[in-house]
Amino acid sequence: MIGLEIRNLSVKIEEKEIIKNFSIQVPKGEIHAIMGPNGTGKSTLSYTIMGHPAYEIEQGEILINDQIINDWPTDERSHAGLFLALQQPVAVPGVTLANFLRTAINTRRKAADPDSKPISIPEFRKMMNEKMAMLKIAPEFSRRYLNDGFSGGEKKRAEVLQMAVLQPEIAILDEIDSGLDIDAVRIVADGVNLLVKESGMGVLIITHYQRLLNYIQPDQVHVMIDGHIVRSGGPELALELEEKGYDWVRLDQAQVP
Ligand SMILES: Nc1ncnc2c1ncn2[C@@H]1O[C@H](COP(=O)(O)OP(=O)(O)OP(=O)(O)O)[C@@H](O)[C@H]1O
Ligand SMILES: [Mg+2]
Repeated sequence: MIGLEIRNLSVKIEEKEIIKNFSIQVPKGEIHAIMGPNGTGKSTLSYTIMGHPAYEIEQGEILINDQIINDWPTDERSHAGLFLALQQPVAVPGVTLANFLRTAINTRRKAADPDSKPISIPEFRKMMNEKMAMLKIAPEFSRRYLNDGFSGGEKKRAEVLQMAVLQPEIAILDEIDSGLDIDAVRIVADGVNLLVKESGMGVLIITHYQRLLNYIQPDQVHVMIDGHIVRSGGPELALELEEKGYDWVRLDQAQVP
C-alpha cells in the first residue's frame, strides 16, 4: 500500500509495554484521526514511527510504501517522506527558523540526489514568503531562533510551516491544535487541507478535540485506549466521543464477551 501501515505493533519503554498490538493503515491522500485519553500512548506511537531510539519495538512492523522501516534511522524515515509535528517542539537557540528550514530542504535534496545543488537564496525566499503568507506568519518571524521563546501557538505554526516547506508524503500531527486560539486553528487547518489537496499527502492527526475535525475532515476516526485501537468509524465517531466521553467506549468494550 502507498502510505503508512502499522501491523500488530507492540512497543516498550523502560520495561513497560505502552503500545499493544496496534494496527492502522493510512493510505496517501487520506486523513485519519486518533483520539484517546491522556497517557494512552499516542505520542509514544508517533515517536516510534519516527524512530526515536528510546522506544523498543517488541513485535510488529511499520511500513512506508510497502517497505518495512523498523530499523531505519530517523533521517532516512524523513527522506522517505515521513514527517512528525511534535506535541512539544524543542527550542534550538542560535539557529534561525529560516536557516533550519533551508538546511532541511538541502539535506533532503542531497539524500534524493547526491549531485543536486542547494536551493538558491531567491528560490528559497520565494517559497518561504508563499508558505508563510498561507499560514499568516509575519515575515520577520523566520529570523527568530527556532522555537526559542515562541508562544505555544507560534510553535505549532512553525511546525506546520516546516511541513509546508518539506512537503512530506505522510505527516503525523501530534496535538497540532493544542494551545491555538480559534483563528489559529482555522489557519493551521486550512494549511493542512491545502497540502493534502495539492500534494496528496496522507495525514495522521492526533487530537483531543473534535473541534479540529470540523476544519480538517478525517476519512476515519480511531479511538485509542491503553495502547491500541478499540474502535474506528467516520467523523461522527468524534462527535459521539465528545458527547459521551471515553467511558462509553470502555464500558462498551467490557460488554464484548
Ligand atoms: N521516556 C519515558 N519514560 C517513561 N515512561 C514514558 C516515557 N515516555 C512515555 N512514557 C509513558 O508512556 C505512557 C504513554 O505516554 P504518551 O505520551 O504516549 O501518552 P499520550 O497518549 O500521548 O498522552 P497525552 O494525551 O497526554 O499527550 C505514559 O504513561 C507515559 O508516562
Ligand atoms: Mg501525547
